Amino acid sequence: MPIRVLPNELVDQIAAGEVIERPASVVKELVENSLDSGARRIEIDVERGGVGLIRVRDDGRGIVADELPVAISRHATSKIASLDDLESVATLGFRGEALPSIGSVSRLRIASHPADAEHGAEISVDGGTVIPVRPAAHPHGTTVEVRDLFFNVPARRKFVRSDSTEFGHIARLVERLALSRFDVTFRLAHGSAGLRNGPRLVFDAPAVPEGAETARFGEVLGKEFATRAVAVNHSAGPVNVSGWIGLPTAARAQPDQQFWFVNNRNVRDRLLMNAVRLAYRDVLYGGRHAAYVLYLTLDPKLVDVNAHPQKLEVRFRDSRQIHDFVFRALERVLADTKPNVAAMPAADTSSVLGGASGGGGRISGTLPLYEPARYEPSRSPWAVADTVREPPPLFPPRPVAPDQESAGEVPQAPGSSEHHPLGTALAQLHGIYILAQNRDGLILVDMHAAHERVLYERLKAQHTADGTPASQHLLEPIVVELKGHEVDVIVENRAEWERAGFDLDALGPTRLGLRRYPALLAGENIAAIVKAVVRDLELDADPHHLDSAADKFLGTLACRTAIHAHRRLTVPEMNALLRQMETTERANQCNHGRPTWTRLTMPELDQLFLRGR
Ligand SMILES: Nc1ncnc2c1ncn2[C@@H]1O[C@H](COP(=O)(O)OP(=O)(O)OP(=O)(O)O)[C@@H](O)[C@H]1O
Ligand SMILES: [Mg+2]
Repeated sequence: MPIRVLPNELVDQIAAGEVIERPASVVKELVENSLDSGARRIEIDVERGGVGLIRVRDDGRGIVADELPVAISRHATSKIASLDDLESVATLGFRGEALPSIGSVSRLRIASHPADAEHGAEISVDGGTVIPVRPAAHPHGTTVEVRDLFFNVPARRKFVRSDSTEFGHIARLVERLALSRFDVTFRLAHGSAGLRNGPRLVFDAPAVPEGAETARFGEVLGKEFATRAVAVNHSAGPVNVSGWIGLPTAARAQPDQQFWFVNNRNVRDRLLMNAVRLAYRDVLYGGRHAAYVLYLTLDPKLVDVNAHPQKLEVRFRDSRQIHDFVFRALERVLADTKPNVAAMPAADTSSVLGGASGGGGRISGTLPLYEPARYEPSRSPWAVADTVREPPPLFPPRPVAPDQESAGEVPQAPGSSEHHPLGTALAQLHGIYILAQNRDGLILVDMHAAHERVLYERLKAQHTADGTPASQHLLEPIVVELKGHEVDVIVENRAEWERAGFDLDALGPTRLGLRRYPALLAGENIAAIVKAVVRDLELDADPHHLDSAADKFLGTLACRTAIHAHRRLTVPEMNALLRQMETTERANQCNHGRPTWTRLTMPELDQLFLRGR
């Protein structure tokens, strides 16, 4: 074949192949055009999964009659005029290819009436053949109708799935678009006027004022999300990240509730997704996925939006910096998921035990913005361990009711339940839970899970604080008897052990001498802990365990050191644990992302007993 220039129609169809993959792609392009035109209300009607009809109506700026033929021609756009403009695009569209692409693979009709024009006008394209402009009655705004999608491209038609599948794609897309602009009303209906029941309104999201976004979240992410999420808002120079991230304890089996918006454009960005994953790594149960809706706002010059045929990916000028910025901002918010007086919610009677959420994140009504001032880096973690002595109390008894050794009477330190989010300990339940009371009601704590987190955070802090971890020196080494291969494993991984504050040496093929151990473990049965940790590490035991903990070694050490079930605690010990939880970052969830505590407020208890107040 000789080399030839392709006819325009074919060029458009080729371009359409990239942009218009399925009916949902048409909806995306049309709604983005409406948003770019300043619309505040967008109505979408779909028939037969979008193959029959897609109609998008808006109340935006409109297109003047003379420009209608231009709008549907190739590379025609009102959004950029120069390379400079391209480098700082603030609109969703900019290529001038959506309408001609759609027109080349469907029957397209555009009717529009700009606010300052006397009349409306319309234009049609039938699989590439243009039917000229003529006057049309139309309210202010624009309507674009796309019928018989892919009628002239059988190859593409074959890839279209059932009506309900295609409509599902459209519905999810509209939900994402609705999360991008809370100030715009979105309505989506499916069905045909000819059917007995007519079209069905599937999604109805009226514009919501700032601060009331939870109303729309309910529509998209389920009502639960708003009550189990923390608000984020963090800026550094020209970059801001804001939105809501789900509490670790509200993580999901699928990554189906993860939304990123860059300058209000929904994107699927690896870099951003990875930054979130990293921020959650220490609080998420292995294999679980966080839920979040996040908005990155930055100078358009710092991001290239012209990097993907459907504009689903972006490229950052300084990706490293953006990654770190997002990671730090979220990590900080997640570190603050600990029992917290400031964030203690008002009593909530709507549900009894509705989701085991910690005070730090239980939020009702409008979500308060994250308060960066509350964040404090961990203080010297071994200050506590220094005071530990034999017989091994788990925690230094506090001056609060030091003589209360039984769980019988409740130590009521004056004002203590007022000041402590987790209140004062009452008793231990079946050797597993601590019962406590605070000013709102009953607190239940999973003591092993909570203690494990406290230890883990301290171990991490001790080894990052200043290189050399606080260690207890022994004049006489402790001798640990192990199997030969276990000794080898330890010697091979000596660096890990030393980093944690151990000093170990093989004394023989099955004997290990221990000269130093982390001060945090003072008073514990060190030999037993060492044995258990070796076994766990060697077997890579328990795959559900510590999967996501950032530091596997310290995580294992924390788990093996933490109090185990059926260990009887005194009331002061229980109180000490409660106080430690309150000052430990991420303490609302254990190292596997499960909640460490929950509560029953007095109104909830009253409800259980049908007791009027
Ligand atoms: N709903 C609308 N309201 C007002 N103007 C519109 C609307 N839809 C399209 N236009 C006008 O038609 C032009 C062409 O639209 P088209 O979607 O083809 O290109 P684009 O949005 O500029 O770029 P892209 O191809 O990246 O979407 C737009 O630049 C805009 O001026
Ligand atoms: Mg467009």
